[in-house]
Amino acid sequence: MDSNGEFYITTPIYYINDKPHIGHAYSTIVADTLARWREAQGERVIFSTGVDENAQKTVDAAKKSGEEIHAYVDRLADLWAGTWAKLGIGNTDFIRTTEERHLETVRDIWGRMEAAGDIYKGQYQGLYCRGHEAFMKEDELTPDGLCPDHKTKPELVTEENYFFRLSNYQQKLLDFYEAHGDFVAPAHRFNEVKAFVERGLEDISFSREKKEWGIPVPNDPSQVIYVWADALVNYVSVVGIEGWDEHPADIHVMAKDIVKFHAVIWPAMLMSAGLPLPGQVIATGFLTIDGTKMSKSLGNVVDPLDLAARYGADALRYFLLREVSFGDDGDFSEAKMRERYNADLANGLGNFAARVLTLAEKAEVKFGNLDGEFEEVIASTKRTVAEKLGVFRFSEALAAIWAALAFGDRFVNEKKVWEIKDEAARAKALFDLVSLLDNIAAMLAPFMPETSRTIAAAIRWDGDVLIAAKPEILFPRIK
Ligand code: MSP
Repeated sequence: MDSNGEFYITTPIYYINDKPHIGHAYSTIVADTLARWREAQGERVIFSTGVDENAQKTVDAAKKSGEEIHAYVDRLADLWAGTWAKLGIGNTDFIRTTEERHLETVRDIWGRMEAAGDIYKGQYQGLYCRGHEAFMKEDELTPDGLCPDHKTKPELVTEENYFFRLSNYQQKLLDFYEAHGDFVAPAHRFNEVKAFVERGLEDISFSREKKEWGIPVPNDPSQVIYVWADALVNYVSVVGIEGWDEHPADIHVMAKDIVKFHAVIWPAMLMSAGLPLPGQVIATGFLTIDGTKMSKSLGNVVDPLDLAARYGADALRYFLLREVSFGDDGDFSEAKMRERYNADLANGLGNFAARVLTLAEKAEVKFGNLDGEFEEVIASTKRTVAEKLGVFRFSEALAAIWAALAFGDRFVNEKKVWEIKDEAARAKALFDLVSLLDNIAAMLAPFMPETSRTIAAAIRWDGDVLIAAKPEILFPRIK
């Protein structure tokens, strides 16, 4: 991955046929954590998320809610952007595919692919799943002919479409994968992608007969660009063609459902358009509820704003990043969330911070030399966090921070810090503890930005004298 002090990370742009659920929140929190981490390393970060408006399902949803389409998409775009703000997401851009900057970029890239001889007109017949906004192969359906994810019957569609010569790119993609051993993470997803491409690639339909919605094909207004061929381009629209040429996305974050679009079609489009490829495609598993995929179409959704309102946004971020091991599916249950909240946050982090700061407030703590063991714990925890974040093991990074917390807790208990009679000795012990807490707050910044700021703000130095502010209860216990 080339870096030159700049880091560009993206989430998928989400469909707006409904409001966000915690599956969407999870991908966005993962991307936010990586963005904040890189920013903490001093890099200039571009972090984009946004919405995919040009799908047929947008039209269906607007009709269903009885709203005029433009009013509907404006309302939903605001709702999505607003949700991310409430979850502590620090995206630097929010892209909508109805924006002029995007239309221009889509037309530009279409023109480049056409000039490369990769766009041609042909007859298409296929089984179209509206839920996926994609054609499906017969062997991908259930025995009774339904889409396995949406449990609906795909429609048989026959039309004249523009095609993209994906078949041209089989060898080029395989060569690229060979040269970029970490292009897709986790590795088993990469193996799936390689196996898929090795089986051979068919050209894909890149346009649809024009209905009422979508981006018209340049020079043929009777067709609109296939929503995926339009949506993927958003990543370029955010930085502009020249910006992308100089520095393409370092990381595209998503769940496993859309890896093929990002690791096969997208690189082929970029090769065709003569543009550089992204650094990495990273895929989480699915959050399930009672073992079933959560989706707008299935209607078993959990609202992240509701959880954030009751537990706090940082608690939701912590739970998702700690509970789910990266790349695997994770089952969400509120009982599990409450358990972790009380154990790790209320009794763990919150209690440790309150204990240390209450004692420190009552003592005269001076800045001094950090105890060797504390220094070692802090340094090794920082190394572990960096190492784990480099390979997206959020849960293990957090576990390492909690091990440092446990070290601090043990120290307080074993030394009975509150009972140390000698004032200088007690102040020294508290200097070590406050330093540990301060470092823990810094390490938590990418994961739990608000909590990190609150703790850091409670530890201020006036010259070499500590002014510990009265601690607030970070995580009130929940029954
Ligand atoms: N609009 C396309 C993406 C275009 S990107 C150029 C799309 N949208 S979507 O609204 O369906 O979002 C899919 C993404 O949402 C997944 O890849 C994942 O990031 C997130 N998730 C949706 N449901 C999810 C779960 N149940 N669990 C985890 N992530 C989930 O596809």
